[in-house]
Amino acid sequence: MRLAKELASQDTSPRIMILKVARLGFPSLRTVAQPVAVDRIKSPEFQRLIDDMVETMYEYHGVGLAAPQVHLPIQLAVLEVRNHPRYPDMPPVPLTVLINPEVSILDRTTVDEFEGCLSIPELRGLVPRFKELRVKAVGRNGEPLDFTAHDFHARVIQHETDHLKGEVYLDRMPNLRQLGFLDEWQRFLLPKKTGDETN
Ligand code: NI
Repeated sequence: MRLAKELASQDTSPRIMILKVARLGFPSLRTVAQPVAVDRIKSPEFQRLIDDMVETMYEYHGVGLAAPQVHLPIQLAVLEVRNHPRYPDMPPVPLTVLINPEVSILDRTTVDEFEGCLSIPELRGLVPRFKELRVKAVGRNGEPLDFTAHDFHARVIQHETDHLKGEVYLDRMPNLRQLGFLDEWQRFLLPKKTGDETN
């Protein structure tokens, strides 16, 4: 009886869902996101939204996903870099939930790398990003976060926090000639790394 009851309660518990990703042109991607009320964070609905966003990021092989990309103009983003096929050389970043993030730039040196975005499918563009940041935010349990991020980690945070300002990576590109479709980017735009063949 007890087992049946437990199973029944599991059956009625909400399942994680893959969310539909908004594409460029959808208004939430061009809206300044609103801060999240901190007393809302621990609610089951908000916790479920976080789980759904993480699952959606995994499903589409993103390294980050911001709430405006799932049609919600609120200041919430998730990110994780781990064994990513597109960024195999990048150091891992643990799963991070950023709520109401505030970013200050510690090193204004810019680094150029190609980026993509789940809301702008099939394209890659060369984007300069600041090298090092300090990030203050609220975590998924309402705890304060305060950390520094550099290089690729800093890039992902700049990309995701741009989404919270209604901006996308295309807005950051100084030269739109460095934009291409994935196949053509791999063939013609992606710089060939020297020494790859021998290592
Ligand atoms: Ni994006």
